[in-house]
Amino acid sequence: MASEKLNVPEHVTIIMDGNGRWAKQRGQERLYGHKEGVESVRACTELAVEKGIKYLSVFAFSEENWDRPVEEIEGLMQLMLKAISMETPTFQKNGVRFRVIGDFSRLSQKLRDEIADCMKLTEHNTNLQLIIFLSYSGKWDIMQAANKFIADNASKMKDGEVPQMSAQDLAANLSTSGIPDPDLLIRTSGEQRISNYMLWQTAYTEYYFTEVLWPDFRKTEFQQALDAYSRRERRFGKV
Ligand code: FPP
Repeated sequence: MASEKLNVPEHVTIIMDGNGRWAKQRGQERLYGHKEGVESVRACTELAVEKGIKYLSVFAFSEENWDRPVEEIEGLMQLMLKAISMETPTFQKNGVRFRVIGDFSRLSQKLRDEIADCMKLTEHNTNLQLIIFLSYSGKWDIMQAANKFIADNASKMKDGEVPQMSAQDLAANLSTSGIPDPDLLIRTSGEQRISNYMLWQTAYTEYYFTEVLWPDFRKTEFQQALDAYSRRERRFGKV
């Protein structure tokens, strides 16, 4: 029934946190937690399709994460490579469009190729967009958007004129252009901050924080977050 779908968010984004602590609690290497974290991405993707959510995005690797130990970075990149190639047939089966957003310049050619292949193959799928933020930061995105706007407009200016950028101009140049702003942002593991994620796009997003560590965040936990969201009243600054 249409009324049942009224409070389903169109775009849910997740800051997946706590993989390292989850692994440590089990006396394992951090990568063990990241591997289990991929299973949580799979579970949440399934539930998102079931619930009719149109966009699910996850913060998989921040610009700041490049400062982690090289073994962890390499392990994570390998894990993503493997996960993308393994999941591609499932994306096709379930009508999931796969996208990656971020600064690709530091990714390996192999990973870039795998990402490009999966994005191309799934580009016409319409059930859900699964968007991975990889090598991404909110400040980077705003800066590249502003620079793009200036580069596109500076040459059109007459002597002494300075390009004036509107909020719409900036949004149109963000790497998320065309994607609706998140309705709901979930962060796991008890941390309550935005950590240089989508700074511009989350201006009116509802936040949901949970103590659950990311590898334990599966369908039940995701449903709890969706239930909490459906009880919120969003006013967007109005009365
Ligand atoms: C945060 O936990 C998690 C990450 C920085 C990596 C998350 C990436 C994945 C789960 C892989 C996703 C892959 C695909 C294809 C979507 P943390 O390491 O910061 O944990 P801690 O705070 O306990 O140390």
